[in-house]
Amino acid sequence: MAISATVAEALNNGHPRNNVPDSVKAKVGMELHNREGHPLWTIKRAIADSFAGLPPGEGGIPRPEFRLFDKEEPVVTVKQNFDDLLAPADHVMRRPSDTFYVDEDRLLRCHTSAHQTEKLRAGERAFLVAADCFRRDEVDSTHYPVFHQMEGLRVFGEGDFPEGVSGDPEDPETVAYVSRDLQGCLSGMASSLFGEGARCRWNDDYFPFTDPSFELEIWNGGDWMELLGCGVVHRDIMASCGLGGRVGWAFGIGLERVAMARFGIPDIRLFWTEDDRFHSQFDGTLASSFKPYSKYPPCHKDVAFWVPDGLHPNDVFETVREVAGDLVESVELLDAFTHPETARESTCYRVNYRSMDRSLTNEEVDALQMQVRERLVGRLGVELR
Ligand code: DAH
Repeated sequence: MAISATVAEALNNGHPRNNVPDSVKAKVGMELHNREGHPLWTIKRAIADSFAGLPPGEGGIPRPEFRLFDKEEPVVTVKQNFDDLLAPADHVMRRPSDTFYVDEDRLLRCHTSAHQTEKLRAGERAFLVAADCFRRDEVDSTHYPVFHQMEGLRVFGEGDFPEGVSGDPEDPETVAYVSRDLQGCLSGMASSLFGEGARCRWNDDYFPFTDPSFELEIWNGGDWMELLGCGVVHRDIMASCGLGGRVGWAFGIGLERVAMARFGIPDIRLFWTEDDRFHSQFDGTLASSFKPYSKYPPCHKDVAFWVPDGLHPNDVFETVREVAGDLVESVELLDAFTHPETARESTCYRVNYRSMDRSLTNEEVDALQMQVRERLVGRLGVELR
């Protein structure tokens, strides 16, 4: 998938706020969710199919058709990604330590919710958005700077309420009705993804853009796993989109998490492999299941340094990724202390190297670790210990 001239220009603008590293730039536009047969494509399709086959709601009232958008450009505005969704001014995700910015006003979307208000303003009333999302984060088997989400949103109209439900967003009956409709649709989706017997549980949650908010958990591998967040769209968002007095629901779900649970994929890096031993195990249906083709030996190296002011752990994680790419399996904080006299802070990280496709040689890992150390000094200004 080619990226547009606007996106290419934004990524390579050299703006002082641009903190998108080369390894992430290289993944913009790859759109794994649009590669036919890819496990993320399969999950996207299964969710879209579940919404296309929704039975009528309470009282036999038909549910709308959901329009699927899956080619939205990844560079969005701060307004779309945060302000329009009522994210508070001090929200952690607004920080450049957590989000990839290209300039003062634009960033790589950190969630598909970034498309809610633009779609509402364009007149969409029932839609799904599948897209790649970008976050600066830890390095381990479930975190990767590029991942995929699917958003859903439904606005209710006059004919969508049964007798006795006013449709007024101030009316608790209406909010309860809309919440039940939301949970009904999402329980149906969970059953189509994980089977009719899947155990689900609902918890109250908090998001700035929904009220009330919920999370859906599913029983998976002997534990509860958070599947998605959702809720009744905040009245201020409805009003700002010209829908004051109306009511709607929204949800957002991570596609990697679903695919890993459904297919038994143990490491998030596998979604990016070109290895046919991975892809040949997926036939585009939910019936596929993954058998690891091999587990190559790991090798770890520790690095300890004095922490300069303003350094964020995500800067360290990203530095390792820039050097080692998908050969790094995880980076763990081993130890941290503050020197009693100088008050300087020291940390020690363990870098776990392991390829998913082959054995690494000692020389290769030593060379990677040497480069990591050099970059930590050269780019982040740390003092090694
Ligand atoms: N955007 C949220 C996230 O990335 C997920 C989410 C929660 C989306 C609630 C929604 C919602 O639409 O209503 O964690």
